[in-house]
Amino acid sequence: MLKPDFIQAGVMGWPVGHSLSPRVHGFWLKELGLNGDYVRLPVEPEYFVEKLKALKDDGFAGCNVTVPHKEAALKNVDEVHPLAERIGAVNTIKVQEDGSLYGFNTDGFGFLENLRHEIQGGTVGFDPKSGPAVILGAGGAARAVVVSLLDAGTPEIRLLNRTRTRAEDLAQEFLDFGAGNIIVEDWDHRSDCLQNAALLINTTTLGMQGQRPLEIDLKALPQAAVVNDIVYAPLETDLLARAKAQGNQVVDGLGMLLHQARPGFEAWFGQMPEVSAALRTYVLAEKP
Ligand code: ATR
Repeated sequence: MLKPDFIQAGVMGWPVGHSLSPRVHGFWLKELGLNGDYVRLPVEPEYFVEKLKALKDDGFAGCNVTVPHKEAALKNVDEVHPLAERIGAVNTIKVQEDGSLYGFNTDGFGFLENLRHEIQGGTVGFDPKSGPAVILGAGGAARAVVVSLLDAGTPEIRLLNRTRTRAEDLAQEFLDFGAGNIIVEDWDHRSDCLQNAALLINTTTLGMQGQRPLEIDLKALPQAAVVNDIVYAPLETDLLARAKAQGNQVVDGLGMLLHQARPGFEAWFGQMPEVSAALRTYVLAEKP
């Protein structure tokens, strides 16, 4: 028998065995002494909507949603946060008191918080207003990065993707909403558009374990620029190693994953957790 104040959440995905989220939330539940659990919920795409609608009856306070369900989650919750609407995906769901499902997206929050915290080790870290940002990739992760940088006042976004039309579509979508500062550049020119950039972000899968490294010449990147890879396996990608070697500040992708988990934890378990060195060590002890 579960205790009456027991709170349960989890992560729906397919596959979901590789997800680090149970370890992250498990650490916080223990750290904060809360009576709850966070479990893996492997759900095939054809059963997703059914499992989503059953969250309340199955005793869940809510869940995270990961690949390949983020877009389906957006379409099937009862209420969507405007930011999730703009990103085009829901990654966190809360079951509300009346049983309805509220969907939001914490990827952009995780991305920016990670940059703010990792640099200088405090809350006065990277300032998104400080200069142009170069974004490599135009997939789901790039959407969250673009939206959060636009909202944070980044003066110019240079967007590059192997499939140029995908970058153009993404830029057009935001231009339609009044954002005038996204410039699409050609993927082959990625080494040539780093001048006066304040931030370089890799949102592609290049550099991930088992994938080819990201080929880019960093010579034109100012030394003051921050380089962020959202790949976290390996933690230090070839891109980050080379950026570090030429004196740039680098931020790895694990922090984004840890920070994006915080608002969901707060929504279900009632307390905003912190990202600490101890959490990083604990999560890294189980290799992704
Ligand atoms: P996510 O939702 O995690 O961003 P995604 O939508 O599959 O994942 O996007 C993966 C990104 O990596 C895309 O920008 C993809 O480029 P394409 O749109 O051209 O597919 C990029 N990517 C993957 N493999 C790549 C490669 N070998 N070279 C360049 N870009 C690559």
